[in-house]
Amino acid sequence: MADKPWGGRFREETLKIVERFTASIGFDRRMYKQDIRGSMAHARMLAKIGVLTEEEADTLVGGLRQVLAEIESGQFRFSEAREDIHMNVEARLTEIVGPVGGKLHTARSRNDQVALDLRLYLAAELETVLDLLRGLCEVLLERAAAEAEVLLPGYTHLQRAQPVTFGHHWLAYFEMFLRDAERCRDTLGRTRRSPLGSGALAGSPYPVDREMVCAELGFQEICRNSLDAVSDRDFALEFLFDAATIMLHLSRLSEELVLWSSQEFRFVELGDGFCTGSSIMPQKKNPDVPELLRGKAGRAYGNLMALLTTLKSLPLAYNKDMQEDKEPVFDSLDTVQGSLAITVEMVRSLKVRPEAARQALRAGYITATDLADYLVGKGLPFRQAHEVVGRAVAHCEEHGGGLEDLPLATLRGFSPVIGEDVYPVLSAEASVAARRAAGGPAPDAVRRESRAGWERLDAVWPRRAG
Ligand code: ARG
Repeated sequence: MADKPWGGRFREETLKIVERFTASIGFDRRMYKQDIRGSMAHARMLAKIGVLTEEEADTLVGGLRQVLAEIESGQFRFSEAREDIHMNVEARLTEIVGPVGGKLHTARSRNDQVALDLRLYLAAELETVLDLLRGLCEVLLERAAAEAEVLLPGYTHLQRAQPVTFGHHWLAYFEMFLRDAERCRDTLGRTRRSPLGSGALAGSPYPVDREMVCAELGFQEICRNSLDAVSDRDFALEFLFDAATIMLHLSRLSEELVLWSSQEFRFVELGDGFCTGSSIMPQKKNPDVPELLRGKAGRAYGNLMALLTTLKSLPLAYNKDMQEDKEPVFDSLDTVQGSLAITVEMVRSLKVRPEAARQALRAGYITATDLADYLVGKGLPFRQAHEVVGRAVAHCEEHGGGLEDLPLATLRGFSPVIGEDVYPVLSAEASVAARRAAGGPAPDAVRRESRAGWERLDAVWPRRAG
């Protein structure tokens, strides 16, 4: 049993089938860089507190550099018998530097090591997610400014409700993705905490300098209870929730693009590059990309539910169950990053079709609420005004045409307070232009918000150099 780091107390070999079942190297090798970085910081710290000599620390760091180079050049042979990335790296290190390699694990356990690695990995990937969210927010702000005046029907219950503008619609998504960025930034703050020095569960008898390791790794603070430090995966859960919410928002946007690009709506046209054809129906142009984005929300929700369930009722501190934390996190990272990247390009390249949207505004009595507000202006209580307009709509339903097509005499039949000045009120432009208070769809309000959006974005996640 000499080949296992715990071999001392065992008399029989681990079964191959057990090795295979318990190994995590197949997926945790993704964290090799973080594992090596954490080990370098740990070795330096051990030298500083006198547990290692400076020469020993130099030897370990040099050896770790070589392991890193071997992995990056594809020479490294990952071994399932060595179970995970931590033992793969350490075993190879010891092959390279000799017995001193065995000193690296002083004052450390795989339990605090794996918690650190996952935090380092997620923190770096979260920064990429934040950059992608920022990119999507920027495209939405640009589109909002450009399409501040382009009208389309707004919907409730998927029934035409009141006119809005494309600019206003893009800003609704800007708000969602800006909140997502806020959430990811908050998660990042709680992820950047160092558990190293917590040992297996009960801390360390060495005078470990936890703050030194923490600063070296660019983290903000240390985890303050060793039992919690090795068993806390809240940061992973938080990210999985953030990811699920991002996918939820993307699925709503995607659903609208699927609807809007259909023959039934024709409000937008997706670039050819984002669609596919049918192998049998030559006329088809299918919105595969937004459909797939919509579908991928499912796996993000599943990942969140999986980890919540894995962690439920686990006694303190570390339990092997927790090895199941990584795959959901990796999958949600891949899903969210891939989805955001393609959405940025899809939204940037799509074309709106103002005439088709305009056409849709003609049906559906889209300014009925404005007529009611006009009657309120003439002194009617709103409830009574609502009733009057309801009767006018019923009349149109029966005889055809829209409210704006009714002759004044007919309109006056519903209420004598109606005058010639009603007609401008019945236009979609006037309806939208009147709604200029903060948060409204008026072109002025949209332009104001699309300008203010850049500063709000900078306050959450500034553009990074490079
Ligand atoms: N591969 C393990 C994981 O991913 C590392 C920690 C294992 N610790 C232990 N005592 N078995 O969680």
